[in-house]
Amino acid sequence: MKEMKTIGVLTSGGDAPGMNAAIRAVVRAGVNSGMRVLGIHNGYTGLMKLDMKEMDMREVSDTLHRGGTILGSARCLEFKKPEVVKSTAEQAKENGIDGLVVIGGDGSFRGARDLSLAGLPTIGLPGTIDNDIDCTEYTIGYDTALNTVSDCIDKIRDTTLSHNRCTFVEVMGKDAGYIALSAGIAGGAEAILIPEQKFDIQKDLVQMIMDCRARGKYHYIIVIAEGIGNTQEIADKTEELLRTEHDIELETKVCILGHIQRGGRPTVKDRITASQMGVHAVDLLKQGIGNRVVVKRDGKITDLDILEGLNMKKTIDADMLRLADILSL
Ligand code: F6P
Repeated sequence: MKEMKTIGVLTSGGDAPGMNAAIRAVVRAGVNSGMRVLGIHNGYTGLMKLDMKEMDMREVSDTLHRGGTILGSARCLEFKKPEVVKSTAEQAKENGIDGLVVIGGDGSFRGARDLSLAGLPTIGLPGTIDNDIDCTEYTIGYDTALNTVSDCIDKIRDTTLSHNRCTFVEVMGKDAGYIALSAGIAGGAEAILIPEQKFDIQKDLVQMIMDCRARGKYHYIIVIAEGIGNTQEIADKTEELLRTEHDIELETKVCILGHIQRGGRPTVKDRITASQMGVHAVDLLKQGIGNRVVVKRDGKITDLDILEGLNMKKTIDADMLRLADILSL
């Protein structure tokens, strides 16, 4: 087991609120353990260029409550090439980096795995608003994004109600529906469309609206995950089917929340989870342990072998689907 004197930390992929809390935890836990901590700028791009600087305790002061990432982030396509990963790992070790913490989503985790296999001890920390990393129940940034979306839905609901309209709120999540499902439940959506579940425009939207009308409800919020496809087309089709088949004039609006979901002050849950995960990552490196992913499983912060972690598959929570079904009536 090689003693780690210098470790690097980087954020990669889409930024997520709470990433700064994770960086702060890595820096403070690392420095407290007597290690040098290098902050690497702009993800794997910065690692390739050795664009980094030593971070001390003060460097991370007043960052805990800030969204985004003080290190900058990037999606580095170049890093998918095995020869690039190999030369980057070698170059990092030659330049005194003994271990690395990568904070990011599933693409960043694959980069972390490849670096591990190329001989640079690396720890992955889950940071993405999507909560779509298979080996962990929770990813840093998810709770803040959910609160942002639920706040937006509350506001959209006010005007949707005033005008008796149907608003389709499109939320992020890449090809997963975790944000849509949880925020849809929290926001009291009439329907939630996620890529993990087949949907039928007639049954899930047109008939649902007809049923609501029969009970005297004339405004509707539909939360739709971006992975579903073209939200405007679905809204237009719903409006058209109601008009042509049921003689109902219902005005639809589409509201794409977009990158607003990625910003903002991290919630307490994200600050604490990020802090716990950052310290856990340093605890591993301190013991000379690399090639792990820090995860939340059964409500506890723990770690898994990086290869094992990346081979896992998670499914959408059936209880949450049931909840959505019962409550959206
Ligand atoms: O992975 C986070 C995320 O915000 C996804 O929800 C979304 O699909 C994607 O990133 C957007 O990426 P970009 O910021 O590169 O447009």
